[in-house]
Amino acid sequence: MDGAAAGGGEPSVRVADPPRFAALAARVVAREVGRSVASRGRCDLALAGGSTPRPVYRRLAREPGVDWPSVRVYFGDERAVPPDDPRSNFRMAREELLDRLPEGPARVSRMRAERDDLASAAEAYAATLPEPLDVLLLGIGEDGHTASLFPGSPALEEGSRRVVPSRSPDPPARRLTVTPPVIEGARSRVVLAAGERKAPAVRAAVEGEGPARDCPARLARPGTWVLDRGAARALSRSPEERSSGAGGAT
Ligand code: 6PG
Repeated sequence: MDGAAAGGGEPSVRVADPPRFAALAARVVAREVGRSVASRGRCDLALAGGSTPRPVYRRLAREPGVDWPSVRVYFGDERAVPPDDPRSNFRMAREELLDRLPEGPARVSRMRAERDDLASAAEAYAATLPEPLDVLLLGIGEDGHTASLFPGSPALEEGSRRVVPSRSPDPPARRLTVTPPVIEGARSRVVLAAGERKAPAVRAAVEGEGPARDCPARLARPGTWVLDRGAARALSRSPEERSSGAGGAT
């Protein structure tokens, strides 16, 4: 199969009623970060953008037992806007998580997507991005995109560069994004999705066949999918049937 293949391996699906989605997601992320710090003494964590993570990050900032000074924070993608722009993923993470932490992370590495030369900004960021990431947080769009990898994007065929410029059908069009090797190479992937409008894309990503070119979020199939009941509603099997151990409803 040319281009990125859908991720092999079964996802672990966790589902919560909408009011408990953020708490479940924050608990799952804190667990994955804790596992990394316990086994490797640190955690290279890449954050997802968009709006779904907002309540999750706010809750994560209060999650007990996260050794933030052992965490280095990165980003999975960024819009080509200044870091204080309301559309910036960095600004969202700063407002909802980074500025709320009792102790800051060891490092926060921001994608400089405001630069005119995005190719150069992508190259510079790739040079700072650890390989592999320990924990990669991702969202999913209604079209099945993840990070800023959109269906049919040439970036989905990228097999060597780890960060590239991309174009979004929704504004802001110009973006920077990690590529399939980064997503597939991460030690742990956590996908966050909430709301019924995401249900068809979640089903296509978690259960659909076919290449990641059609549904880029398939790259994260072998990961932990934290969903609210709306986003999970189109899945054919209950979470309890799908995953052993780590999955299951709350
Ligand atoms: C971005 C994100 C993107 C996001 C999805 C879902 O920069 O927008 O990285 O991949 O996760 O578009 O966005 P919502 O959480 O806003 O639905």
